[in-house]
Amino acid sequence: MSKPLVGIIMGSQSDFNLMNDAVKILEQFKIEYEISVLSAHRTPELAFAYAKSAVDRGLKVIIAGAGGAAHLAGVTAALTPLPVIGVPIKSSNSIDGWDSVLSILQMPSGIPVATVALNGATNAGILAAQIIGSSDKDVLNRIVAYKESLKEKVIKGNEEIKRKA
Ligand code: RP5
Repeated sequence: MSKPLVGIIMGSQSDFNLMNDAVKILEQFKIEYEISVLSAHRTPELAFAYAKSAVDRGLKVIIAGAGGAAHLAGVTAALTPLPVIGVPIKSSNSIDGWDSVLSILQMPSGIPVATVALNGATNAGILAAQIIGSSDKDVLNRIVAYKESLKEKVIKGNEEIKRKA
């Protein structure tokens, strides 16, 4: 097995069901990843050490998911030069998801977090794959094939609807 290229982190084990969507995508595109539960609030020292060591450990991009007052993605982005993709999560402590969306999305100028939609872990996985694919032809080809499959699905759906109508 080669070294993980994508780090998936989440604020709580309770985020895993949702973040598993990103795992599925990375497995589909055959990209090595590592997965960790780290909290910017409950384990700030571990979150700090993870972000500071990410480059030396060979990671190329980090996906960070958290709910409620979600600081994990922003803190990680502050501590590493790697791109950080944020996944806002509608968790049990969330008011309606906006708390998580805004705390991940509204970063101050200079420290971006590439924020996907609420619960958008699938898109986070795809975005991470696209970043890896920009310098890996095999991954890039898998992304092209994936997009082609989406196109074919819509065309097929269109034909089926027209047959039934
Ligand atoms: C956030 O609080 C976590 O990312 C999670 O989405 C939410 C709830 O955490 P638990 O109380 O379920 O551990 O920090």
